Amino acid sequence: MTTIAVIGLGTMGLGIAQCFAQAGFDVLATDTHAPMRDSAADRLVQNLAPRVKAGKLSPEDAAATLAHFTVVPDLNGLATAALAIEAIVERIEAKQDLFARLEGILAPHSILATNTSSLSVTSLAQGLARPERVLGLHFFNPAPVMRLVELIPHAGTDPQALAKVREWAEAAGKTVITAPDRPGFIVNRCARPFYGEALAMLEAGTPAARIDAAMLAAGYRLGPFALIDLIGADINLAATEGLYAAMDGHPRYFPFAPLRAQVASGHLGRKTGAGFVFPAEVVAHADPMIALRIEATLANEALWLLAEGGTTPEGIDTAVKLGLNFPRGPFEMLAQHGSAAIKATLSDLAARAPDQMKPRYAPAPGL
Ligand SMILES: NC(=O)c1ccc[n+]([C@@H]2O[C@H](COP(=O)([O-])OP(=O)(O)OC[C@H]3O[C@@H](n4cnc5c(N)ncnc54)[C@H](O)[C@@H]3O)[C@@H](O)[C@H]2O)c1
Repeated sequence: MTTIAVIGLGTMGLGIAQCFAQAGFDVLATDTHAPMRDSAADRLVQNLAPRVKAGKLSPEDAAATLAHFTVVPDLNGLATAALAIEAIVERIEAKQDLFARLEGILAPHSILATNTSSLSVTSLAQGLARPERVLGLHFFNPAPVMRLVELIPHAGTDPQALAKVREWAEAAGKTVITAPDRPGFIVNRCARPFYGEALAMLEAGTPAARIDAAMLAAGYRLGPFALIDLIGADINLAATEGLYAAMDGHPRYFPFAPLRAQVASGHLGRKTGAGFVFPAEVVAHADPMIALRIEATLANEALWLLAEGGTTPEGIDTAVKLGLNFPRGPFEMLAQHGSAAIKATLSDLAARAPDQMKPRYAPAPGL
């Protein structure tokens, strides 16, 4: 059986370890912080307990999962792994340093994967002795629940390494979608207009609850503001600012003032007890103009991403539906509304936008 190493036993690392251990892989895991190592097995038991209680996992399978999970004191204990997945702190120097050390410990053909959300896979591979075995393997939180995994090659990644990792992740029950090594990959990038366009409307005076109500009526499980409240306005602002910087300040990623104001107010969402709409329960109320405006910008963003290469309409649709729990993907939105309606909506928004924001609504080449 293939041995998989996980480095970093925080939220993501432990979740990723659980995915593979549950599927019968031997998982070796470590963390620099001793309490994280010492508590990992107990935390895994706690994560499995509700599923055992609900009858979704037999006590025997839970025990087997635990038996496949071994915590080791340091990187030297990971030597037998065919694949190492890092889920450590989101700092490029820390990740580069880790990969360089792993190169000296793991067998030459082993594969190094990063779970980064915001760093470039290309830059993480730079300076390594064997960059061809580096790739991105981006899980979503909570990893054992979310089916989607984005698989991110850089220009020099060995196709055989990609094929192997795809096979292993699929064996762990994941739907694997190839994503380009661009800021935000597919999901975190294509999600931007869902929040951004809603915030633009809020700034112009449409109440948050009305916008959420319109998106619920359009089939979404959560409106943009309820989703920000769930994730945390601070986390959402950091993701938005990260992408805005990575995309050289393009107005399609503009962090609108109401999001900053919300963070400054301290009402970050569920975790603080109040947010844009939380704790109020928003009820669906159709407003096709609001839904069309948000979906037009979602479809346009996906078309811009498609034009950059390295993905497909089907890949983007699947990633967005699984990664964001959306009822349809951006290309399904495009088909539903028709490109004429999308183009007309964008051109109307551009006409009304101040000069510096007009490029936000420029139609992608595919339109
Ligand atoms: N939280 C999410 O929703 C999410 C989703 C997808 C990807 N990610 C990415 O996954 C990675 C981990 O995120 P997280 O939320 O699990 O963080 P976390 O803070 O919960 O866990 C990180 C763990 O890594 C350990 N660590 C730090 N430096 C280390 C090192 N050099 N060697 C070994 N262990 C080290 C820390 O002690 C900590 O236990 C980050 O790159 C993040 O961007 C996070």
